[in-house]
Amino acid sequence: TNGTFLPLQNIQGDILVGMKKQTERLVFFQINSASGFRSALKTYLPQITSTATLISPAANQPLAFVNIGFSQTGLTALGITDDLNDAEFASGMWADAANLGDDPSKWVSPFKGTAIHGVFVLGSDQASYLDQYQSAISSTFGSSISVLTTISGAARPGDQAGHEHFGFLDGISQPAIGGWTTNTLPGQAIVPNGVILARRLGDTATRPSWALDGTFMAFRWFQQLVPEFNKWTLDNAVQPPPLAGVTLNAQDAADFLGARMFGRWKSGAPLDLAPTVDDPALGADPQRNNLFDYGDALLDETKCPFSAHIRKTNPRLDLPLLSINNHAIRSSIAYGPEVSASESASNTTSQDRGLIFVEYQSVIANGFRFQQIAWANTANFPPAKLETPGLDAVIGQGTPRTSGGLDPNNQTKMFTVPQFVVPKGGEYFFVPSIPALTSEFAT
Ligand code: HEM
Repeated sequence: TNGTFLPLQNIQGDILVGMKKQTERLVFFQINSASGFRSALKTYLPQITSTATLISPAANQPLAFVNIGFSQTGLTALGITDDLNDAEFASGMWADAANLGDDPSKWVSPFKGTAIHGVFVLGSDQASYLDQYQSAISSTFGSSISVLTTISGAARPGDQAGHEHFGFLDGISQPAIGGWTTNTLPGQAIVPNGVILARRLGDTATRPSWALDGTFMAFRWFQQLVPEFNKWTLDNAVQPPPLAGVTLNAQDAADFLGARMFGRWKSGAPLDLAPTVDDPALGADPQRNNLFDYGDALLDETKCPFSAHIRKTNPRLDLPLLSINNHAIRSSIAYGPEVSASESASNTTSQDRGLIFVEYQSVIANGFRFQQIAWANTANFPPAKLETPGLDAVIGQGTPRTSGGLDPNNQTKMFTVPQFVVPKGGEYFFVPSIPALTSEFAT
């Protein structure tokens, strides 16, 4: 992918391509002095990584990439009163937690409330460079900011790189962006660039001119209960239909249930194309691993359950009306250690691990929030099915927490799935263009 139409030197790098580094750190800060912050940012601006820099030859790249975003209270602290015209951004994610289905008592400080003014997103192939860049931020910004907390993530080791903690390959399906993506992959949705970037084609909200090429970042801190997930899938394991002629052993049957919860095998192979046996070559092949649309099984869950995570969050042909505005770009990374032997033996999480979830869109209510509330948390979505789909088996939130279709041999059975993904915090940020940082934030 490399497009020429969008001004890549203006757009912060994590948005369209993702930093895709071994390690990442989110540094959440509060602004103590608007004037101090503005003059420090003026000095610091050359460190903010554009898309152009991020895709330049490795020899021209810095040791770490840096992006920056601001919450509504951050804009206010800087005296920026222009209305970005996004209701959820204006109120902040803490105010939205219950609407998203979160248990607010599981949220931790400083995310409870509106104290976070901004975030630096750092990415590098070495954690030591993140430390170095974070010290440089501390010395440049001095007492104009206080760091409230940081969260560090890292690719999982060895052959699990690119897989989230339950073991599934992530980051396969992303929308292609008009004016940017040139080599669209088979099966990839193509969206107007205004679905992601403010004031671009298809973004109809009224916003200040400096919002051009900015975007809203939905950050979610998700803890994942991996040993508990492993135990539950073993205890509730399912078999392929007899016609498939395969009987799975206990572990493979557990993996099959896990695959049905996601809609893909751990390898990334989609169930719509590989319904009974994993096909790692298919999972690893970008020309084939997204080329499916559920079109020949719109009323049947033998291949892929309606409640599968990827079917819920991108329903493809399940949705009679086009859902072009409901796409967003994901740029998440795992955090926390591998499951220890004692956690495995006790089927109980004792060390925190999960996903630093980041999604970019021009309208929060259409992107992340729509996928979570209107789709994942809505039991009768996708519509017009003979059996109730139930909640997204991975991220759905609500009571009862039931998901259908997980057993191909008993598709009417509703499974009560414990919540293995626990939101612990989050915030909505605006990630301005680099010219906007220069003209509105750094003077
Ligand atoms: C796809 C994991 C949270 C939206 C996927 C995939 C995995 C995954 C393994 C398949 C890879 C791919 O198709 O690219 C997780 C985990 C989560 C999580 C472990 C939480 C800990 C979320 C949330 C949302 C979301 C909160 C939005 C509300 C999506 C979307 C796709 C996806 C849109 C692509 C679907 C497609 O285009 O077919 N996720 N996810 N995910 N996820 Fe998640």
